[in-house]
Amino acid sequence: MHQAPILTITLNPALDLTTSAPRVVPDGKLRCTAPRFDPGGGGINVSRAIRAMGGESTALVALGGATGERLAALLAEAGVPLVTLPAPGETRQSVTVDDQALGQQYRFVMPGPEWSPENVEAALQAAVAAAAPDALVVLSGSNPPGVPAGFAAQLAERLQGSGARLVVDTSGEALAMAAAVVDRRVEILRMDDAEAEGLAGHALPYRLDTARFAAGLVASGAAHAVIVARGRDGNIIATRDGLWHAEAARVPIVSKVGAGDSFLAGFVLGYARGWPVPDALGLAAAAASATVQTPATELCRGEDVERLFAARVVTEMRL
Ligand SMILES: Nc1ncnc2c1ncn2[C@@H]1O[C@H](COP(=O)(O)OP(=O)(O)O)[C@@H](O)[C@H]1O
Ligand SMILES: [Mg+2]
Repeated sequence: MHQAPILTITLNPALDLTTSAPRVVPDGKLRCTAPRFDPGGGGINVSRAIRAMGGESTALVALGGATGERLAALLAEAGVPLVTLPAPGETRQSVTVDDQALGQQYRFVMPGPEWSPENVEAALQAAVAAAAPDALVVLSGSNPPGVPAGFAAQLAERLQGSGARLVVDTSGEALAMAAAVVDRRVEILRMDDAEAEGLAGHALPYRLDTARFAAGLVASGAAHAVIVARGRDGNIIATRDGLWHAEAARVPIVSKVGAGDSFLAGFVLGYARGWPVPDALGLAAAAASATVQTPATELCRGEDVERLFAARVVTEMRL
């Protein structure tokens, strides 16, 4: 299937180590199962999920040291083309330990190396250089230490006029700064309900509240399209052409890790294929629902996405 090029950006990747122990208790040794290693980080997850759905993307990833090399090898194994940007230090690791007795999960996340203003400038230039004129450029995940909250807004400015379109999924101050630039330089802005409530400054209890908020952001010029996730209550998109809601499938929840990134992957893949917005939203919701069914850091399986997409429920909304 023809698709526009997709470039994902990961400034703060991690080598994810997942294991389990009979019980997680202090002192003494915890005898763990053989660890599983996955390449992790927002943009990387988006690229892996796109791959699982039969799409193509290139991952621009800041990598450093031996852990960075390990991560590059895992990405190659996963079939994700990589463009490397030198990170200012060793790539971080994350450790997830499942407690088998209680079924609980412990997640230990390291900070990653500290970035200087020169490193940030190099990342902006690398992103612009790697973005084809008709590409969708996906920025997802936290900024590493030292990268300013305005990075997404800055990248949007650098990409202006290039033809590349920026898709941003971020939170807190970075989201507020991206949403504050109202010249429609951002193509798609996505956030979850808590982030939306933070940005709105009030609660968004009903779908209509979320829809009104998203439509307001589009009208302000913050982006061409705004997507807000409402957890198990599904997802809402506002564009200048309308408003749609996609149901989250009723599926057993195993691990929500990577659900937001899989959602983004589904949407961007549909969008890159030139699908109508409600269909891209349906693929996104199917990818998120498929991901919550898989354990630990595993993302979506293609056959699950196909089945859930075929059963999608997407409804047009009116204010
Ligand atoms: N119980 C559920 N069943 C199906 N999909 C879900 C469920 N809970 C959340 N989702 C979907 O998973 C995605 C989670 O995205 P987000 O809140 O950004 O999570 P994160 O950033 O932590 O991965 C949303 O699109 C949401 O609709
Ligand atoms: Mg999220």
